[in-house]
Amino acid sequence: MIRLMTDAWIEVFDRVAESYDTVVPFFSSFGRLMIAALPPPAEGARLLDVGAGAGAVALAARQHGYEVSAVDGSTAMVARLAATLPAVQVADAAALPFDDATFDVVTAGFVVHLLTDSHAALREIKRVLTPGGLLAFTVPGPLSEGSEPGDRSQELFNEFFRHLPAENTVVPPFDADAALAGVGFRDVTRRHLEVELELEDPEALWRWYATHGARRFFDALDEQRRKEFHDRLVAGLADRPGVVLRRAAWLFTARA
Ligand SMILES: C[S@@+](CC[C@H](N)C(=O)[O-])C[C@H]1O[C@@H](n2cnc3c(N)ncnc32)[C@H](O)[C@@H]1O
Repeated sequence: MIRLMTDAWIEVFDRVAESYDTVVPFFSSFGRLMIAALPPPAEGARLLDVGAGAGAVALAARQHGYEVSAVDGSTAMVARLAATLPAVQVADAAALPFDDATFDVVTAGFVVHLLTDSHAALREIKRVLTPGGLLAFTVPGPLSEGSEPGDRSQELFNEFFRHLPAENTVVPPFDADAALAGVGFRDVTRRHLEVELELEDPEALWRWYATHGARRFFDALDEQRRKEFHDRLVAGLADRPGVVLRRAAWLFTARA
């Protein structure tokens, strides 16, 4: 549990927990797409959602008929989700508080690529899955060919990246296929998911960025640079009536 206390991501998600996914239903849209892409649950099927956040995946899974448990490393996220899903607890993805072979399905929406030790988490997930049980997780992915993000932020992120303090610029690469094979998962599949959401104006886009993991980027910029980013983001979209947020993910599935 000591690792949790020092994990920079956990601190970020503690900070954004209250506002997470409230500006626009970005994560819940991906959560619904993810669950809809899985085989329908067998009677009484047990599902564990790891890094559940505000419940984007867990609540969609419960609506589909799974018996859902959830964990998250952020105490604030767990406090928020507990109001709608009592079977949620604080736990590190690499130390799951469950017996071997407890779950038929384990899900993790936009979590695995953030973990300090994703291999340890995948090993632990495999342990709590029944033999042949299903793992499904999403990671950010590229838009389909010919599709544009719609909000012109990426150029600004690329430009401002160099202003981050050195400790924030190292993002460990995550190779899902290698990680799954390394832990002994089999029957790996990969599927493309994409969402398109309307934001009322550029300020809503800025607010959205402050309510999820991107907050780590902005909190690491000094105040002047943060203001410059904001002003250029908003000015660059001023000629548009509304802002379209278009983003994609890879949905990986694999069998234990
Ligand atoms: C991008 S959010 C995704 C939340 C949710 N799955 C969704 O799709 O909206 C990542 C979540 O992973 C959690 N997390 C990060 N590191 C973790 C760890 N080591 N163990 C458990 N949860 C972790 C964060 O607290 C956060 O709630």
